[in-house]
Amino acid sequence: MKQKYKSQDEYYTRREQVEALLIYLKPNSVIWCPADIDLISNFAKVFREAGHKVICTHIWEEQDFLTYEPDFEFDYIITNPPYSIRKQWLEKTISYNKPYALLMPIISIMLKDFKRILMTEDIELLMFLRRVRYITTEQKNQPTETGYFCKGIIGNNIVVVDNES
Ligand SMILES: C[S@@+](CC[C@H](N)C(=O)[O-])C[C@H]1O[C@@H](n2cnc3c(N)ncnc32)[C@H](O)[C@@H]1O
Repeated sequence: MKQKYKSQDEYYTRREQVEALLIYLKPNSVIWCPADIDLISNFAKVFREAGHKVICTHIWEEQDFLTYEPDFEFDYIITNPPYSIRKQWLEKTISYNKPYALLMPIISIMLKDFKRILMTEDIELLMFLRRVRYITTEQKNQPTETGYFCKGIIGNNIVVVDNES
């Protein structure tokens, strides 16, 4: 049975945003994309084309990231998560103690709950020079100023990628 979801969570990532991560990933990695549907996700497509193994899970397959226990090994957690539960998502991601990259609104760092996380988590930011656009039917309410919250990926504290205008 499909679970409830919020329309604000249905924004799909373009290839360009995934390609920006490729130079940072170790060859032949296993990447868990836990908010992604196989054959649809550009994370899955781009990473596979680059030679990585990708494991997708998604709430529509009854794999709620916040409660799901993976029975596989992986090197990275990378996705564009649902923004309505972004804080819980980040906390759950951190709990795996693996490198990660989560595409989320940069403004999140101004939220008190996020600031609490930043007190102990050494997060790296990969930002885009121009506003990131998503694949969605709701063109008007696209999330603004998103970038990757990462750990163990880019090595620097802040990287800015010159994306397409
Ligand atoms: C912002 S969209 C991004 C989808 C995909 N990762 C991409 O970038 O194209 C987030 C997705 O996470 C799904 N989702 C919502 N809650 C979830 C949960 N608890 N566990 C796994 N997926 C969830 C939503 O239905 C939505 O499809």
